[in-house]
Amino acid sequence: MPCDRSSRSTTRTESFPDQDDLWAASLFAVATPKFQALRGTRDILTPDAERHRSLVDVFAEQCRLAGYGHIMSPILEDLGVFLRVGESTDVVTKEMYDFQDKDGKRIALRPELTASVVRAFVQHNPPSLPWKVWYEGPQFRHEKPQAGRYRQFSQVGVEVLGSDDPAVDVEVIAVGWRFYQRLGLTQVKLLLNSLGDESCRPEYFAALEEYLRDHAADLSEGSRDTLEKNPLRVLDSKRREDQAIVSNAPLMVDYLTDDTAEHFAAVRSGLDELAITYELSPRLVRGLDYYTRTTFEFASTALENAQNAVGGGGRYDGLAESLGGKPTPGIGFALGVDRILLACDAENVFPAPNLAPEVFLVDLTGGSQAALLADVLRRGGIAADRGFDGRSMKAQMKVADRSGAPWAVIIGEDELTQGNVTLRDMHGDTGQTLLQRDELLAALASRLAH
Ligand code: HAM
Repeated sequence: MPCDRSSRSTTRTESFPDQDDLWAASLFAVATPKFQALRGTRDILTPDAERHRSLVDVFAEQCRLAGYGHIMSPILEDLGVFLRVGESTDVVTKEMYDFQDKDGKRIALRPELTASVVRAFVQHNPPSLPWKVWYEGPQFRHEKPQAGRYRQFSQVGVEVLGSDDPAVDVEVIAVGWRFYQRLGLTQVKLLLNSLGDESCRPEYFAALEEYLRDHAADLSEGSRDTLEKNPLRVLDSKRREDQAIVSNAPLMVDYLTDDTAEHFAAVRSGLDELAITYELSPRLVRGLDYYTRTTFEFASTALENAQNAVGGGGRYDGLAESLGGKPTPGIGFALGVDRILLACDAENVFPAPNLAPEVFLVDLTGGSQAALLADVLRRGGIAADRGFDGRSMKAQMKVADRSGAPWAVIIGEDELTQGNVTLRDMHGDTGQTLLQRDELLAALASRLAH
């Protein structure tokens, strides 16, 4: 076929073989370049993918029991949604995937879901408050990939808008806490703090800023930059040279006004009543700017320190307003699915579901009998897999064995002419039974205790 080079793209990127590469490969028998998942992203294969989905199912069930509705919001958002909520956070300024689309609009791949949910709240103005929603899905942050830290990762989470009742804080935290328990995790700690609100922040910020400015010469360059944008976030520095200064900095909890202190006390006593244990963590600062009052993190002591945050959240009473809505208090959390599964591995709980078929069909007559019987069994609710490619009895039995199915059904020429099938017990000691074809469904259902 003639090759019109003029119509082909001339732009190339480092990791994306373009048409030229593919043409060259096909014309000159050069090995076609193989694609790999992008750095920091992963293919989650079976059975891990099913395990991931079951985890989301457990979360969805916890949320249903607590009266939360599901929200599915877009992965793409107007860049402005996130710029408004995190001007001084790495998540927004350094790690966000943003680009201009074909209409010239500036778009972000969401790095988190809270801002999207609050944008949706402002957009749809739900009639009844509090508005309680749960979500799940992928987030994107251009971080340095390592175990438990990915560029595409999954979260499950909840958000509640429209109430600042401390009982809502308690409920939200309890949903997260009970979810970890449902998975069987026992080594998750709840770290709790209050970051105050506009009533106490000016005084605290002034004290903190004064302290940090007095010590600015000894702070890391990164923290000196952060100090100019949001002094509070300096407390979140993990850099070694900042640690001594951070550990002696004034604490928000010492500056809470009576109202915020009372709110925090009510949250703590609500948790106590539910026997949810927590550690007060007065230096806990979250990685996003919008937090006010109650803030918390769930940390797994079964994981390495650097990646032990398996979830976190808090109040964001000013977020709706900053996204153009009416002043509306809000609180929520997001839990990292990938890390929770690592914590489950570390604690040896919540294994992948058993995906073995219930029965494997071995057809020695060409394959069409397997197709018919598989259809009957599957319609009857029995998980049936089968061999293909007209392979030998030995080869098909090997696949049947590897599939883990407890039962095999063998259809040979004799069975076909006599209208019956052989049912073989693959794991137990009941051997083989000859059954009429129309008895098979009921016989399997009773053996599988359906
Ligand atoms: P976040 O602390 O940025 O909060 O993320 C929540 C959880 O997502 C983390 O605790 C961690 O388990 C997981 N996570 C974060 N980054 C990564 C990553 N690169 N790789 C793997 N897992 C990761 C938020 O996203 C807020 N929206 C939480 C919230 C909801 N606050 C109020 N409502």
